[in-house]
Amino acid sequence: MNANLELIKQEIITGSEELNSSKEVYEFKKKFLDGKTGKIGMLMKEMKNIAPEERAAYGKGVNELKEWALEFLGGLDVKMKAKELQARYEAEKIDITLPAVTVAEGNLHPITLVRNQIIDIFAGMGFEIFEGTEIETDYYNFTALNTPEDHPARDMQDTFYLSPEFLLRTQTSAGQIHVMEKQQPPIKILSPGKVFRSDDDATHSPMFTQMEGLVVDKNITLCDLQGMLDEFVKKIYGEGTKTRLRPSYFPFTEPSVEVDCSCFECGGKGCKLCKGTGWIEILGAGIVNNKVLENCGIDSNVYSGLAFGIGIERTAMLKYGINNIKLLFESDVKVLGQLNDK
Ligand code: PHE
Repeated sequence: MNANLELIKQEIITGSEELNSSKEVYEFKKKFLDGKTGKIGMLMKEMKNIAPEERAAYGKGVNELKEWALEFLGGLDVKMKAKELQARYEAEKIDITLPAVTVAEGNLHPITLVRNQIIDIFAGMGFEIFEGTEIETDYYNFTALNTPEDHPARDMQDTFYLSPEFLLRTQTSAGQIHVMEKQQPPIKILSPGKVFRSDDDATHSPMFTQMEGLVVDKNITLCDLQGMLDEFVKKIYGEGTKTRLRPSYFPFTEPSVEVDCSCFECGGKGCKLCKGTGWIEILGAGIVNNKVLENCGIDSNVYSGLAFGIGIERTAMLKYGINNIKLLFESDVKVLGQLNDK
């Protein structure tokens, strides 16, 4: 081979030892093999300076060198790319033996769950939501609900007064008056909200949540009330649950009833939860007192109404088997994580 060609071959071999990446291989290859500027590419242009009898051998030599360089550098390129890919795999390696970071899943607060569930049940019966205010006047919370000043029934609820006129509502029943003042029957509302009473023990809290129901229309009777509440207890506590009404007293309903449901724990046989009676007291209700309808300008000769007040904490405590109301307010995620329908 022409001495010059041999030199170029040596140059490629030595130079290739310095190459560290496929990019460098590419540049190096161009330096020799580029058709116009590469060292080997330019050898062909030398042809005219070669003696005619040597041209054939020279051309063959250049072609052989070119073939060799292509193969040699091509092989180097493949090796370099494989090395680079391997390095990338190493760098991007994921250690699947590492314990996973656990993502804690939250759930709605039991009060919210029960509140939503009750709303769903009664919305299915055509009730609409009315939200009253937590600060009320004495008139809406008591007087209009047939509980004038000095009425003994006021002692049933220990009230937080803000002034002689304003107070923190003790019952969502106050909302009944607002609705009936604004709207003539038919009325079918559900009114959820916080209420306040100076009362504090394992089953009572100074702030708790009620869900008021009010239906006013022609010919509303206790049968309608029991029918709706039957539906409610079946959906909340299970299909087999029944209700029973016991006489009670609220100034704004006449007759008034205390509603019990058959014990969903023992099925009515008697257990610790129902204190051996087979029944559990769940809410107060009744037929709206005519005086209350009249206070709101509704003709009690034409219309009658039913009302009920459900304690949401009490419902949640029964449903989830909680014996202390404070567990619902302490926001301990370990406790709240166990109180859901999952
Ligand atoms: N407001 C009553 C209470 O808080 C419950 C109730 C509501 C009773 C509606 C009858 C009708 O105890």
